[in-house]
Amino acid sequence: MNILAFETSCDETSVAIVCDGVVVSNVVASQIETHKVYGGVVPEIASRQHLKNITPVVASAFTESGLRPEDIDGVAATRGPGLPPALMIGFRAAQGFAFARELPFLGLHHHEAHLYSSWTGGEPLAARFDEIQPSVALIVSGGHTLLVQVDSALKHRILGGTIDDAAGECFDKSAKLIGLPYPGGPEVDRLAAEGNPKAYSFPRPMLKEGNDDFSFSGLKTSVRYFLEKHPAVLEDGQAIRDLCASVQEAIIDVLVTKTIRATRRMGFRCVTASGGVTCNRGLRSRLQLACEKSGIGLRLSEPALCTDNAGMVGLLAGLYFEQGASPSVNDDDIRPGWTLDLVTSGA
Ligand code: KG4
Ligand code: ZN
Repeated sequence: MNILAFETSCDETSVAIVCDGVVVSNVVASQIETHKVYGGVVPEIASRQHLKNITPVVASAFTESGLRPEDIDGVAATRGPGLPPALMIGFRAAQGFAFARELPFLGLHHHEAHLYSSWTGGEPLAARFDEIQPSVALIVSGGHTLLVQVDSALKHRILGGTIDDAAGECFDKSAKLIGLPYPGGPEVDRLAAEGNPKAYSFPRPMLKEGNDDFSFSGLKTSVRYFLEKHPAVLEDGQAIRDLCASVQEAIIDVLVTKTIRATRRMGFRCVTASGGVTCNRGLRSRLQLACEKSGIGLRLSEPALCTDNAGMVGLLAGLYFEQGASPSVNDDDIRPGWTLDLVTSGA
């Protein structure tokens, strides 16, 4: 089955073509440069950019794949969660394509697409959904931090999530305080690689609590207090690298410890990680170490599928179509506040 997929939930305009579980094209037009001057994503501007980008991005996805519009058998788009004016562009474009060609259409959940992107691999990137096993999924992005219990393909439930800022948000907001450009996550990652993670001590929020929830806003605030007290740190290149390493270490400690703890408690032998923050080299290597130590298998989303992209949406659509989902072109509207548990319950 050849699937045309759209993802415009935030600031990436992305269109992919997935053929029988293989990503044959995955074009991402990033708006980072546009939003950089504002220090974050401006929804109205994101929407206008999506509108400008969507047609050329669709054209590139077809050119890269070597397929023609008449070769497409099904269409999918991110329905939510996300920024309403941004979601609307990709969702409506996808519906338009499906309607014009009388193709089945699926509106999918952004985090569910992130989640199952861990079950892919190889070159070219292909779905490995037959390998899905009971696991705990860590989904870490700019908007969400979730721990999810996965029993089998498309059978999952939320164990816990952030009660305030997401992990990516903590990276980005701390980076902003340090004076690094948006989005700060990759910058902190780069500088942390040459810093001492033990140089400064930051809190590990909710680490000692037995639940599966997270909280990162206090950590960001402690970076602000630290800089108010030690402004000279920002004048010294090595001190900045040490600060980035120390903040990153605190975030990773919490993510890794709580993920492994939940996996042990469930009696599962597998952890997956996905979402933009899974690009972080420190998080990848710490998860690797912790899983090895605990005899737990690890599936990390491929870096190309970690940040927002339509490839993951197309792969998930393939799984839904395979499992006999009954899609309809009139299938509802965008759902900006959609939660993952509502998908599983069908609400
Ligand atoms: O999944 P994603 O592309 O978008 C959302 O769904 O939010 O995640 C974006 C987030 C941003 O907060 C960005 O700073 C973070 O992922 N990120 C990273 C790295 N690369 C992206 N955070 C830490 N280290 C990285 N290398
Ligand atoms: Zn995302």
